[in-house]
Formats: sequence, structure tokens, C-alpha cells
Amino acid sequence: MELKSKDLLGLEYLSRKEIQLILDTTIPFKNLFTRSVKKVPPLRGKTVVILFYEPSTRTRASFELAAKRLNADTLNITVSSSSVVKGESLIDTGKTLEAMKADFVVIRHGMAGAAHLLARTVKASVINAGDGSHEHPTQGLLDMFTMREKFGSISGLKVAIVGDILHSRVARSNIWGLNKMGAKVYVVGPSTLIPKFIEDLNVTVCYNLKEIIGELDVVNILRIQKERTVESLFPSLHEYHKIFGVTEEMLGKSKKSLLIMHPGPMNRGIEISSVVADSERSVITEQVTNGIAVRMSILYLLGGKASEINY
Ligand code: CP
Repeated sequence: MELKSKDLLGLEYLSRKEIQLILDTTIPFKNLFTRSVKKVPPLRGKTVVILFYEPSTRTRASFELAAKRLNADTLNITVSSSSVVKGESLIDTGKTLEAMKADFVVIRHGMAGAAHLLARTVKASVINAGDGSHEHPTQGLLDMFTMREKFGSISGLKVAIVGDILHSRVARSNIWGLNKMGAKVYVVGPSTLIPKFIEDLNVTVCYNLKEIIGELDVVNILRIQKERTVESLFPSLHEYHKIFGVTEEMLGKSKKSLLIMHPGPMNRGIEISSVVADSERSVITEQVTNGIAVRMSILYLLGGKASEINY
């Protein structure tokens, strides 16, 4: 069993078996983290370029560590100090990286479809680290790995994704992935932040988290994306917190086993209270650790494709 494509562009395009393969391959990589030497050799001699057109802490650092732990060379391109500011197109940047013999390009871009465009331009394996409001597949995979680690299986879990579904690439990747793995998915938020026809993706829409909190196994809380001026889509941040913010009081009505997740970065006191974020039910820091292992698994599984590159 191997991944079909040379690229990882979204969970919409992966089969259940491919997702299973990535999650299963993650386990031995996570086991490495308890060893004093955390490096293994599979990507020795390969080059991973990390090309981010949007800010990031977790995903960028996680890919860099994942590549380094697999013994690859890494090259970070900061767009603000690259030739992009001189007007270079994504396609020309891709061709330049190809001329430098990059084996992988990990891209984050504000435009939906940017990773697809790059994947069609270069022979290297392209990994989507977030494209606009479209997909963030490695976040979806690390979220599912974390759920599977805690519950043993994803099938049958009741998972609510709460917040700004409209602009969220994390929501879309979770919806595609969780449905394929047999979870029941709810999306929860103000009607202005829930896209029309989202039910077509096999989710149940809910406008009040308190109504379903008692049934849920997982609450995956999304960040209110102030940079996308979403505050005009609900009365105030205070109102949002009162209705959709996950608080200690709400936990009192939930199952004791309820898992609290957040992809980060968090707005404490808006979508999540500090008490909940730091509670025993929160796996937010474990998500970060799991992110490195999941990205090692993806780089490793795509590594075979990268070795077939014939310049
Ligand atoms: N979760 C996530 O994508 O975080 P960063 O924006 O810090 O990478």
C-alpha cells in the first residue's frame, strides 16, 4: 500500500485507506520522540523547501523539525524577503525551486488552489500547508491522529467543529477526513459563519453548542480569524464568547471523556476560556507534538515519489 499521488493537496483527494496508512505510519515516528536520539535516515540527501506566503508558528516549525528528524536538508523561504515582493509569480518561484533540485515543496498560501497550481508546475512533491479557506490537510490528519490515539478508533465518534466554518481550511479538511473515517460530524457557529449548502458535505448544522454538548466525544474549536474581518459577521466578540465560547460551565454538561481540541493559535477568552484551554481534557499541546510525527509520516510516504524525480 502506498500513496497514489506525488503530492498531498487535501483530504478530499485521499481515500480512507490512504488516510489509514498515514495514521498507522505516524505511530513509529511518534515513538521516536521518547528516545534521546530522535533522528532517522530515510530522507538523507533530500531537500525540503518550506515556502510560506502567510504567517505560521506551528506548521512551519513542525515541518522543519519533521524534515530534520528524517535527515533531510531544509530551506526556509520567507516571502517578505524573497523575490515575491518584486512581483515574481508562484509559477516562476516554483520553476526556480525546481532548478535548485528541491525534492519537496511545502507551501502555505492565501489563495485557494495555490498548492494545486504549484503541484502541476513542479516535479517535486508538493505538500499543502494551508491554501486560503480551502484545506489544511496536515492539520486534519494530526487532529484525527490525536482523536484515534485517545479513543482507539475514529469510527462512530461524534465530533463538533465550532466557530468560523466559512473561512476555515481546518474545518474543511476535518470534514473530509472525519467523514471518510466514519465519524459523525457537526458544525456549530453563528449562521453568518456557516457556509450555505455545507450539509452537502455530510455534516449536521447546529447553531447552539449547548444543545449538543452532552452527546459529543470531541469539540474542535476554531480560531476567530480577526484578520479576515469576521467581527462584522456577529454582534461583538463578547456576544460570540457568551454563545459559542467553550467555557468551564459548558464542560459541566459534557461527557467526562470529552476531548477539547484547537488547531492554534488561540484567542483565549473568545472562542475558548483559559480554564478550558489548560484543563485536563485539552489535548492542544499534544496536537502540536503529534503534528511533527504526522508530518514525518507524510514526508516519509511521499519520499519514495520524490526519489523517482528525474530531472
Ligand atoms: N494550526 C496552524 O496552522 O497554526 P500556524 O498558523 O501557527 O501554523
